[in-house]
Amino acid sequence: MSDTAPLFEPLKIRGMTIPNRIVMAPMTRSFSPGGVPGQDVVDYYERRGNADVGLIVTEGTTVDRGGASNDPRVPKFHTDESLNGWKNVVDAVHGTPGKIAPQLWHVGMMRKPGSGPYPDAISDSPSGKTHKGKQVQAEPTDSDVADMVMAYANAAGEAKRLGFDSIEIHGAHGYLIDEFFWGVMNTRSDKYGGDLIDRATFAGEVIAECRKQVGEDMPIILRWSQWKQQEYTARLAESPKELEAFLKVFVDAGVDVLHASQRRWWEPEFPEVDGQNGMNLAGWCKKLTGLPSITVGSVGLSSDFTGSFQGEGSKTRPIADVIERLDKGEFDMVAVGRALLQDPLWAQKIKEGRTEELADYDGKALMTLY
Ligand SMILES: Cc1cc2nc3c(=O)[nH]c(=O)nc-3n(C[C@H](O)[C@H](O)[C@H](O)COP(=O)(O)O)c2cc1C
Repeated sequence: MSDTAPLFEPLKIRGMTIPNRIVMAPMTRSFSPGGVPGQDVVDYYERRGNADVGLIVTEGTTVDRGGASNDPRVPKFHTDESLNGWKNVVDAVHGTPGKIAPQLWHVGMMRKPGSGPYPDAISDSPSGKTHKGKQVQAEPTDSDVADMVMAYANAAGEAKRLGFDSIEIHGAHGYLIDEFFWGVMNTRSDKYGGDLIDRATFAGEVIAECRKQVGEDMPIILRWSQWKQQEYTARLAESPKELEAFLKVFVDAGVDVLHASQRRWWEPEFPEVDGQNGMNLAGWCKKLTGLPSITVGSVGLSSDFTGSFQGEGSKTRPIADVIERLDKGEFDMVAVGRALLQDPLWAQKIKEGRTEELADYDGKALMTLY
């Protein structure tokens, strides 16, 4: 076996078989004027599907709530025009060996009032509070929350109709679902609020309603993170025991894959339990649920992505360690972000051992959609 062979083993999850373990991480690109993905977006994903990316998770694409988006150039996942654009993306990727899942997104309180494609809409939140706990609008009613749940479910139904292979629910990074997880922003006293398990109810309902729409064949991925862009040091689960109870909500709701977002994949999640070389978050997700998991965060690069929005670059980093841990079964898939922006042929070059051809991430890749 070559050193990279574990990365190129197929994996079957429900009715989807991905040809290898490389996942393109979801990355917002804002190249869809009017929320409609055009031919350049089609070409961008097809290029990677043709170059050994096993599963493409698209950029976050927003569900049908007025406040779901804060940028009119982010692709929507509703309206005929946007969905037709996505259909072209799916069809093109299906002409390659790769599989594709849309990342269903609602930005929650990360939206400035008045921004996005529907400036008059109110922003959605669990409790109408900012990440500092300041009350800035009324707490949504039960029926508002039910509508938020159904916005994800309706999008899941559209994904199925368009022929996507899977869906990813964006529950990470301080956006709407993560705001429900986070006690600072979710102070509800109904079934959606309370302890961490109660605060996972919203995501559990989203998963269960999505399942009703996509049927038994289509895998549902949940992306989640301990960290929030509002506060990098925030943590939801402080111990494996808490984490197990939290994840059980999603397992019971019917999730298939946990996508554990870290900024640096090599960081141990609970070093007090298994040491400085201990398992990462994806490793714990798999161990505690038995579900396949995806790791992510600076794969192939030496520094994390948070500076990338200011144009920061990052040096290449060998990937032997991530492959070794994949091979040991700590996690099942490896998501790659910036390295795949820098070079659409990244996965192919890894497969063919052409690592000397891999360039540093130069920080300019965000300017174009190549
Ligand atoms: C330009 C850019 C846009 C991103 N947009 C999203 C997004 O829409 N949804 C999401 O879950 N993560 C998003 N992320 C985070 C990435 O999916 C990934 O977790 C992060 O970049 C770490 O991977 P990397 O170090 O390989 O780049 C984005 C990252 C970048 C660089």
